[in-house]
Amino acid sequence: MQTEHRIIIGNSQQMPELADSSVHLTVTSPPYPMIQMWDEQFSKMDPRIAELWKELEADCQEETVKQIYDAMHLNLARVWQETHRVLVDGGIACINIGDAIRTVNGKFRLFPNHARLIEHCERIGFTTLPYVLWKKPTTKPKYKGKGAFLGSGFLPPNAYVTVDCEFILILRKGNLRKFPPHDACRYDSALTKKQRDAWFTQIWTLKGKRQTTSQIKRRTAAFPEEIANRLIRMFSVKGDTILDPFLGSGTTTKAAEQNDRNSIGFEIDTSLLPLIKSNLCDLAKNAKTTISQREPQVSRRQS
Ligand SMILES: C[S@@+](CC[C@H](N)C(=O)[O-])C[C@H]1O[C@@H](n2cnc3c(N)ncnc32)[C@H](O)[C@@H]1O
Repeated sequence: MQTEHRIIIGNSQQMPELADSSVHLTVTSPPYPMIQMWDEQFSKMDPRIAELWKELEADCQEETVKQIYDAMHLNLARVWQETHRVLVDGGIACINIGDAIRTVNGKFRLFPNHARLIEHCERIGFTTLPYVLWKKPTTKPKYKGKGAFLGSGFLPPNAYVTVDCEFILILRKGNLRKFPPHDACRYDSALTKKQRDAWFTQIWTLKGKRQTTSQIKRRTAAFPEEIANRLIRMFSVKGDTILDPFLGSGTTTKAAEQNDRNSIGFEIDTSLLPLIKSNLCDLAKNAKTTISQREPQVSRRQS
């Protein structure tokens, strides 16, 4: 099947390129609030967040930490609002997000990103469906690179549980998606029994994507292709259009093409273009690809 893939270099808080109800499935992973590698990007996107970090350095107020966390999620919520607009009735959004653990203001704490994201999405109008926990077997029980967590980890009661799962939230817009009886694309997209039994379970044990090649690739925080593949096969049919508003290296585009779906990806960081283009080279020869760039853009990396 010939498929079409659009890459838009721009901020997905607005997606004027996409009409209402024009996307069947969203598969994505945003920058995780309060994970240090994304601090700079959140600050560049929203000067208020940059100001708040400066205030925190000066005044160490608990309230300021709360405001930073709130502001980061508000930035993401604009994208969830647009995602809701462009999804068809019955369309699904699969959002991979991890909670953050961090010492801020001298206090160690968990920032439960998955819970905050669900709250925002429900306010927008999404219905939360049972989610998947992505367990990464490679994560060692340690905190901040130390061999064990807080002391030896053998002596109660002050050790912390290792954060070795991320969430794949599954949210639906509106009602169940409707198809004509015996819809050919739907039947052609059927899963095998083995796939159905393995995929529709709540814990997926999958290795994180190895990112050994370059600094840029490592800092993309790409999810494994297997995750995108499964979600696309589970929640869309051949010929559908898949959106990734936080495209990164382009994993979702590749998975969409390999499964006979069209795709649209938004990425704000211009420095990822070479990586995205190299991933597009893996697409089938007859896949139609277009890349367009909006201005101005935020680049997280200077070099
Ligand atoms: C966690 S990464 C996504 C990785 C991707 N799943 C992959 O496999 O490569 C999040 C990406 O979203 C981009 N991003 C952040 N905010 C954005 C926005 N408002 N619009 C478009 N892209 C954004 C970041 O630059 C980053 O590349």
